Amino acid sequence: MNETLDVILNRKSSREFLPEGIPEATKADIIGATLRAPTAGNLMLYSIIEVDDQAAKDTLAVSCDHQPFIARAPWVLLFLADYQRWFDYFELCDTGDFARRAGLPVRSPNEGDLMLACCDALIAAQTAVIAAESCGLGSCYIGDIMENYETHRDLFKLPRYTFPICLLCLGYPTAAQEARQPTSRFDREFIVFENSYRRLGESEFDKMFEREQARAFKNSEELNGAANVGQLIYRRKFAAGFTMEMNRSVKAILKQWKDG
Ligand SMILES: Cc1cc2nc3c(=O)[nH]c(=O)nc-3n(C[C@H](O)[C@H](O)[C@H](O)COP(=O)(O)O)c2cc1C
Repeated sequence: MNETLDVILNRKSSREFLPEGIPEATKADIIGATLRAPTAGNLMLYSIIEVDDQAAKDTLAVSCDHQPFIARAPWVLLFLADYQRWFDYFELCDTGDFARRAGLPVRSPNEGDLMLACCDALIAAQTAVIAAESCGLGSCYIGDIMENYETHRDLFKLPRYTFPICLLCLGYPTAAQEARQPTSRFDREFIVFENSYRRLGESEFDKMFEREQARAFKNSEELNGAANVGQLIYRRKFAAGFTMEMNRSVKAILKQWKDG
């Protein structure tokens, strides 16, 4: 085991932080490492907004599916997939005129560009997570930043070709967070395939969810009418209000990319 693997294997999300701030030098180290993340075509198709305004954090704690710990996080970073910067530069460089003369398509950022920019932003975010962990900081992703697009667009002045893909809460974890057991993962046989995709059959699903099923059935309150883990997760995640809102909100972002 090397130190890097040690950091990765021992990481867990932290949702409660000590009130102490993070030294500027540590923040600079983490941001420096983040900017070294791999990036498609070396274009850096992302931006990071440091949110240190308490009122903005308070808004996020509500708009991101009511998660109060966001307001208490000492360091909050918003990762945007960002094609706006490059498109602004293209316009500044008269690329439209150039493309017409050169017989190239005249176009604006589209779905593929957005997906690539999301890859860049997420890879940068995960680099920040690991860098932070190596400096003794805990972190937690907030995927719910994809909800309530209109609120976040206005709050952070997001232009058309940006997409708020994830939020990171960071800080020194409390003792209780440090003591928490790491979460489990599905066994690799269900996740890692050789050469081609393999759909799982009923007996494999039974095996995959054996542990979770046994745990859930110990607590019938948790089941609340669900007959199995599939029904439990369908209700808790897939058909939950926050997921419905996320899908509405993402549609609104995509519409803005397409129609302005
Ligand atoms: C894309 C993404 C979105 C997430 N969103 C949230 C969130 O909104 N709130 C939260 O408390 N945790 C969130 N998490 C953290 C996961 O719940 C956590 O990673 C998972 O339960 C595994 O636990 P671990 O990170 O401690 O190993 C998110 C993680 C990812 C990767």
